[in-house]
Amino acid sequence: MEKIRKIGIITGGGDCSGLNAVINGITKTAVKKYALEVIGFTRGYAGLYRNDYRPLGLKTVSGIMHEGGTILKSSNKDNLFNFPVVNKEGKVEYKDVSDEAIKHLEYLGVDALIVIGGDGTLTSARDFSRKGLPVVGVPKTIDNDLPATDVTFGYNTSLETITDALDKIHTTAYSHDRVMVVEVMGRHSGWLALEGGLAGSADVILIPEIPYDINKILDKVKQRDAFGRNFTIIVVSEGAKPKDGEVTVKKHVEDSADSVRLGGVGQKLTDQLEKLIPNHEVRHTNLAYIQRGGITSQFDRALGLLFGVNAVDLLMNGGEGRMVQLRGRKITSIPLEDVVGSGEVGETSTGGGKQVDPDGQYVQAAKSIGISFAD
Ligand code: F6P
Repeated sequence: MEKIRKIGIITGGGDCSGLNAVINGITKTAVKKYALEVIGFTRGYAGLYRNDYRPLGLKTVSGIMHEGGTILKSSNKDNLFNFPVVNKEGKVEYKDVSDEAIKHLEYLGVDALIVIGGDGTLTSARDFSRKGLPVVGVPKTIDNDLPATDVTFGYNTSLETITDALDKIHTTAYSHDRVMVVEVMGRHSGWLALEGGLAGSADVILIPEIPYDINKILDKVKQRDAFGRNFTIIVVSEGAKPKDGEVTVKKHVEDSADSVRLGGVGQKLTDQLEKLIPNHEVRHTNLAYIQRGGITSQFDRALGLLFGVNAVDLLMNGGEGRMVQLRGRKITSIPLEDVVGSGEVGETSTGGGKQVDPDGQYVQAAKSIGISFAD
């Protein structure tokens, strides 16, 4: 491999807390330890195609550790292997523009890429790696649904937000004797609902891995009434579905690697419960995008930083084509080929990601203390 002198960073997919810590770790290590030049492409892979980038130096990344979001901006729908381009007739057609992107990199003198993203973004990273480009991946998602790492940064900050919200919802639920339905993100994995619900003392947790029976929710409300606790907190994952029903899809984003956007199950469930629970008012809160923003937690700052530092070390020590991962308390790495499994883009849209084990310790512990999964 040619000597690496200049690297490019890409942040792709939905943003999350900790991205700036990774950018900080990469840039400082690249500059201080390896005397590399660093640039950051803007708005994910789109920046690579449009030659839209900014130089990154020690000053640019100073003071960003705690900030949510990404200073490079992000996009979760720009797949350069299937990119919308306007043709001569003025019509949009989808083309593989990856070779043009590689030409841009050559023109800019960028020798290697560090790509920070979830499954869609990392699938493209693998595909660029297959074309011979030195690429190192860094896993990112609030959903905790990537099997190739124990945990990603972003997840912990989201859990803090969910826990804080549930604490706040508790006091108003108590004051008004209400049934409160709180929808959280997570796609087809119930981790955010499960761990957030446990920490926030939810009474019912509904997750994609355990389809629910609405009658069991009613039983739990009655049980709490009989016990003299006249309010009930229900945390529902956006990917949860009834035993005899389907997931609630909010919209389709056609040019995204995973086009399905979930959302709306909380409102739907609230509407149903209102008709079935005569003695309580039922209210709904969707935590939505506040789960992706805010000040980054200590855990996510530290993990993001460690991932960033290790990604550069990996790249500079012959580890191109790999992704950093957390296993136990150690940062190790794994081939990008293994990260994206069968290689199907958006494979997790059908639930192929890391999911909660219904018979596992977390669910069993929650059941032991009386939390209902309505199963
Ligand atoms: O994967 C992260 C995530 O926030 C999911 O939890 C959620 O379903 C999705 O992204 C929302 O995507 P968008 O930003 O396109 O609405």
